Amino acid sequence: MTLKHQAFNGKILELKRNDEIIKVEAISSTALHIYSEKAENFPSYAVEVQPEIIDLTESEDKQGRLYHTGQIGFCLREDGSFVLMDAGNQVICAQYTGARKHKDALSDDFFKLLASEGHATEAEAKKAEVEIAFALEENDCIYGLGDKTGFLNKRGYEYEMWNTDDPSPQMDNFKALYKSIPFMMVLKENMAYGLFFDNHYKSYFDLGKRQADCFAYEAEGGALDFYFFAGQDLKEVLKQYTDLTGKTPLPQLWTLGYHQSRWGYRLESEIREIAENMRKHDLPCDAIHLDIDYMEGYRVFTWNEKRYQDPEKTLKDLKEMGIKAITIIDPGVKVDAGYQVYDEGLAKGYFATDKNNLTYVNQVWPGDSVYPDFGRRQVRQWWGDQHQFLLNKGVAGVWNDMNEPASFQGPLPDDVVFYDGEKPSTHKAMHNVYGHNMSKATFEGLKKLSKERPFVITRACYAGSQKYTTVWTGDNHSIWAHLQMAIPQLCNLGLSGFGFAGTDVGGFGSDATPELLARWYQVGCFSPLFRNHSALGTRDQEPWQFDQRTLDIARKYMKLRYELLPYIYDNFYQGMQSGLPVMRPLVLNYPFDQEVREKNDQFMLGENILVAPVVEQGVSRKLVYLPEGEWICYWSHKKYGAGYHIVPAPLDICPIFIKSGSILPKYPVRLSVDKHKDDCLILEIYGDQAEYLHYQDNGCDYAYEKGEYNLYHFRYAEGKLITEMKQQGYKKYQDIKIEVKR
Ligand code: GLC
Repeated sequence: MTLKHQAFNGKILELKRNDEIIKVEAISSTALHIYSEKAENFPSYAVEVQPEIIDLTESEDKQGRLYHTGQIGFCLREDGSFVLMDAGNQVICAQYTGARKHKDALSDDFFKLLASEGHATEAEAKKAEVEIAFALEENDCIYGLGDKTGFLNKRGYEYEMWNTDDPSPQMDNFKALYKSIPFMMVLKENMAYGLFFDNHYKSYFDLGKRQADCFAYEAEGGALDFYFFAGQDLKEVLKQYTDLTGKTPLPQLWTLGYHQSRWGYRLESEIREIAENMRKHDLPCDAIHLDIDYMEGYRVFTWNEKRYQDPEKTLKDLKEMGIKAITIIDPGVKVDAGYQVYDEGLAKGYFATDKNNLTYVNQVWPGDSVYPDFGRRQVRQWWGDQHQFLLNKGVAGVWNDMNEPASFQGPLPDDVVFYDGEKPSTHKAMHNVYGHNMSKATFEGLKKLSKERPFVITRACYAGSQKYTTVWTGDNHSIWAHLQMAIPQLCNLGLSGFGFAGTDVGGFGSDATPELLARWYQVGCFSPLFRNHSALGTRDQEPWQFDQRTLDIARKYMKLRYELLPYIYDNFYQGMQSGLPVMRPLVLNYPFDQEVREKNDQFMLGENILVAPVVEQGVSRKLVYLPEGEWICYWSHKKYGAGYHIVPAPLDICPIFIKSGSILPKYPVRLSVDKHKDDCLILEIYGDQAEYLHYQDNGCDYAYEKGEYNLYHFRYAEGKLITEMKQQGYKKYQDIKIEVKR
């Protein structure tokens, strides 16, 4: 990309690249927006509020022509390339000007030869419409990009952004999964920067795979449109990215409890039995998920009346036990004249069409199905309104699936007509935002129809979907590799703005062993979303389906989760301002500790809890790395200094360390959020002095926006606790107990 200066008006720098105008604007003192004029034809789905543009100052420097905010600068060099600079005009990130290596093309003969033994060979990437590369320095690490497979540091890997439903066991050679979040952060020796490529066409990231000294971004359509954020560390970059694309909203408290799911609980009696078993085995649980079998022939917004004689009564009884129902809703609408959702959508022209204007049909669970065109506002509103049916039955949350969109009869052709807002566009252009627009429709519908904070969970999404939905990582398997991968996947989702995320605890496909399940509960306990889910035809996976020991271990971590709810909720509250996730890699908290840049098997919950789960079979001790400071073992209260330690981790122990100088807020053990009044808070004190800010509200609606919440500032020193109310708008705890852990 060779650029020439064209114009500058104090705010917008215009550059020319062949016959295209590229604009550079500062959206804050540390963030630039660099985009082609053509991007105006491709409105963003991630950025809903346009940021204000601030002034740039122009100057000359030996390196070239400089446009500076005072904190960061864009420098156009003599050779027509650019670099992004810091306050002292040191290079943060330079456009890569060397020759790029592309993938070697294979001849047809070789394709055939490989295919004869069943090797899946990849087709060549299509020619890129958009392409840009940046130089990498030797020790740069790369994070983010959603829940792509593999490890925490994405450097050296290659990924595709094309929402893909592939249920085979996903390993680190998988390039695409269900989500497309084209945001990455580069951690350097002493600072960090982020790049968000806001283009929802299929795109490719080569993160130093073919050439160690650069990373490249290519897209098959759309326009060059990216943001550059500079920060002292990853936290500063993530805050800016989420300022732009939105924060994870405060969820209802019960959604942070335990969820039980399975494909599928077919009968009303089975749902009741699951709830009864939860209570019989003394297991906390706040939600049961109803997979596709509750519907009538997989028709969305219907309920099977043969298998469910009285869903309203069952859901009401469940609620009385403190358990809510969440139902799945897929986008595919069954082709079936006489079925109201199909008839109405068809009459209104709300389904995608082929290029000849005929409703486009493919197959999903219900057989022949049509695809609501969620890019259009009226379609989203119509879809949102359908949820009244579920709310009337007593449903408390909605699970959106198959919204890549999935299709059983080959992929949707590129030219199927989907709208981009009010203009007709194509599947090629709109594929990656289909799940985003579906979950937005669901969120907005639920918000309009009920007073509560909507609970939506989706499989497919795009950057910015965190404003509307929680996510799960899709169809994993009950294999150790997937338990291991769960940690970097969830951590990178958190580093991509998705603070509310989970994996199918125990694994979806394949059969879990008792040991794997026990270890997965230990990770699930600390994952933002804690849901056990498994596939039709696999071994039953509820905690009581194994042996007594497995059940006891599951119970121990489910109960611990409920004790930690106030701490987790506090982190969600803080995340609304900071954009930081509750579950985070150590590198987010300790970016300049070289030991943690590749820590794949440990993570933190907020600032104060370090979790080092065992994710290998047959292991009863764990090598744990503790960053600077003093740490206290949660179980033994033994003190540990920074560095490596081998700690005991028999099957019932997940090593957990609390940072000395912490106050850990807890609730007494409870079996359901809803069943217990929050009248007692326990403060566990670790170390001699500590401070903590605690948030409390009614945990379900938007009253907090009108000030109906409490903010407690706790300070512990010299054996005494001092409480200062920073805000008082909700009923206070009747009792606050202190437990000093030494
Ligand atoms: C998909 C989902 C899975 C669900 C199944 C049936 O595979 O990823 O979670 O159970 O469809 O609805």
